[in-house]
Amino acid sequence: MMPSTIYKLYYILLVHTVGLLTVSASSGTKSLSCWLVKEISATETKPRSIQQTPVLIQFTDASGLRLSSPETTDPDTLLFYVFDPSGKLSTEFTSCEITDHLPQEVSLDWARSLTEERLSPPALGKTWYTLAASNRLDGKGVSFVLGPLGDKKDHFSVSLAVYSVSATQQAQLGKPLSLPCGIWKGHQPRFAVEWRHRALGAGSLLYAYDGWKDKIEEHDPNCHLNFSTLHSEGDASLLIENVGVSHQGTLLCTIYLPYLRAQREIQLVVTAKPHVTLQPSPLFAHPGEEVTLTCDISHFHPLEISVDFLVQLPGDSHPTLLSGSTLSAHTHNQDGSHSITAYQRMVASSALNGARYFCRVNHVSVPKGISTSQTLKVAGVSGPSLEDIMYLFLTALFLYGTLSYLRRKAMSLFGSQEDMKAQKNKSE
Ligand SMILES: *[C@@H]1O[C@H](CO)[C@@H](O)[C@H](O)[C@H]1NC(C)=O
Repeated sequence: MMPSTIYKLYYILLVHTVGLLTVSASSGTKSLSCWLVKEISATETKPRSIQQTPVLIQFTDASGLRLSSPETTDPDTLLFYVFDPSGKLSTEFTSCEITDHLPQEVSLDWARSLTEERLSPPALGKTWYTLAASNRLDGKGVSFVLGPLGDKKDHFSVSLAVYSVSATQQAQLGKPLSLPCGIWKGHQPRFAVEWRHRALGAGSLLYAYDGWKDKIEEHDPNCHLNFSTLHSEGDASLLIENVGVSHQGTLLCTIYLPYLRAQREIQLVVTAKPHVTLQPSPLFAHPGEEVTLTCDISHFHPLEISVDFLVQLPGDSHPTLLSGSTLSAHTHNQDGSHSITAYQRMVASSALNGARYFCRVNHVSVPKGISTSQTLKVAGVSGPSLEDIMYLFLTALFLYGTLSYLRRKAMSLFGSQEDMKAQKNKSE
């Protein structure tokens, strides 16, 4: 690498560090740092590339008056003055990306009524942007459409905001679910809501609603919208009656306004909690007998799972991991969930009497894990049980009876001999 290149890189790094420091120092005031991302098409000499320009968002009011003075010393940073009537743009977002937005008519059935007036306001010819911001810490995200504010090129106003509380969500198989999606659209009465599902390249339409005509254009019978909260509060959340494995993937909430649109996506993971049983139950064995512990783990989703066998010997305070367990191939249940069986062999011995064997399962559906256990009883080493005591008591009773009978018998035998002797003595 040429020294001059190193110097240049160092200089670029320095400029960026100063820029970032300025942005974080100004986070106390009302500003948000973003990247403007543009695709530069290929030319004869250069391939297609992505150009990123730092942008500092300054909040202004409706008249375009600045609420705080810009605080950047970096000449490469663009300043955007944004009026946000939605109240959804915040300085707390940890990532922010701005891309071009091209206002256009949409030829979908549920968006056709939005542009039927055939009016195209002159503002549509100006520069429009999509601003997507999210917070890594709490998962909240918003997509905005920024339109012109007044005549100045660097002044914008939020025209549409679509927001969600989380970028990822877990849902339980077979349970109802609400996928959050909120809208701010100002006083625009013409709008449409579309929910789509996308997984491994395949897509399907779950819901399409024309809010202007108040007409459901398409819908999966398992999915609903709450129209009262949609029209009163802008709550376009999708309600799924019965979550299936097929709902796993990306769910997209797209809101259309005349010539404009914005969307949020949610990654959905469908989970089902495994049912775990450990056999044999009860666990009895003879010393030296080989026993196979069988742990059945059924109806779980997704497939990733870990199974361990552990043993806690009598007197031990903690179980310890056993090695050498084996797993069966997984089976597919009708509801899309999976089942699997794990095996562990062990040889019973009198030292293992009272040992507790555990089957422990770790799965995304149960953060704490699931475990089930059986206590081993080895024949011939068990302490006296109630039956044993009863048996001993009955034996003792029988022995006592027999002995006292024999004694009486002996007494009478010897007694009669003595009587005879006495009689003999008398007669002599
Ligand atoms: C719509 O939401 C409101 C407020 O949460 C609720 O009271 C109402 O029952 C919901 N309507 C339907 C049809 O679910």
